[in-house]
Amino acid sequence: MINVLFVCLGNICRSPMAEAVFRDLLKKENLSNKITVDSAATSSWHIGSPPHKGTLGILKKYNISSEGLVGRQLTKDDFEKFDYIIGMDESNTRNIYEITGKPKHPKIIRLLDLTEHKKDVPDPYYTGDFQETYQLVLEGCRALLERILAEN
Ligand code: 4NP
Repeated sequence: MINVLFVCLGNICRSPMAEAVFRDLLKKENLSNKITVDSAATSSWHIGSPPHKGTLGILKKYNISSEGLVGRQLTKDDFEKFDYIIGMDESNTRNIYEITGKPKHPKIIRLLDLTEHKKDVPDPYYTGDFQETYQLVLEGCRALLERILAEN
């Protein structure tokens, strides 16, 4: 089993979107029994909360299930449990290094570094543009799946 964790600041906008989008890709590729997916926050602000209504809206628009998405905080133990720990932006990846105590480990990756964009996933909590974030998250998730299949 390969375990994938998406991480953002609040775990209510970008990382639960990525979790749901990636889970949907796995289902479509018949890989749900080989790869697991979860998401977490670097902050403690939204522990136990459902995703932001903008994330729920975009998932609904694309007919992607939002079942089981609940805010939680990243822990040090997550480093051992997960094979790929994917930050949405540069600040998230720095915070992942701090929380896990593993600076610059190859399993910790900024999502869009897997694509030609090499940039942060914009935070729709501030931009309000969940559509833009969805397109980039989808592109990143497709690139991540290719990477995982190439490496395993
Ligand atoms: P996320 O966005 O990291 O994509 O979940 C945010 C969610 C909440 C806050 C900031 C960003 N907040 O300040 O509560």
